[in-house]
Amino acid sequence: MAEDLIKTSGNKTEQYTALIPQIQALMSGESDAIANMANCCAALHETFAWLWVGFYIVKGNELVLGPFQGPVACTRIAHGRGVCGTAWKEARAILVPDVEKFPGHIACSSRSKSEVVIPVLKNGKVIAILDVDSETLAAFDDTDVTFLTELCTWISDCL
Ligand code: SME
Repeated sequence: MAEDLIKTSGNKTEQYTALIPQIQALMSGESDAIANMANCCAALHETFAWLWVGFYIVKGNELVLGPFQGPVACTRIAHGRGVCGTAWKEARAILVPDVEKFPGHIACSSRSKSEVVIPVLKNGKVIAILDVDSETLAAFDDTDVTFLTELCTWISDCL
């Protein structure tokens, strides 16, 4: 049985530093990919109160919506489309301080103002995407990329 998350009121780095071992503890001993992605989204969403946190999973030539927390979202994204499809195509994290300035951005929610997308890599191939949206402009920075990439590296071992 999972315990409640222990949260810290510190800065972003302190919040991630407290959170990541708890997510790792939730995932260790559980081999089901959906269960692990679902708990990861819930823990991030509860800690940071972001608008949307979720995974898109590579299936054939599309990304298909996986576990998430937040408003309903588009279910399929083509390779190279939007922020998620671009992060998949280029196999790199993408920070979007203002979604209206990202050409081809897919607006699943009009409330989303900024976004960060991290690829989940396995054996050098993108197998999923972690997408995070905020209602605030420029909500994400390199600190988020660093910690979320660490999380995605961890998650890839559980998928
Ligand atoms: N904005 C994303 C689409 C996914 S939603 O934000 C949940 C994109 O441009 O790929």
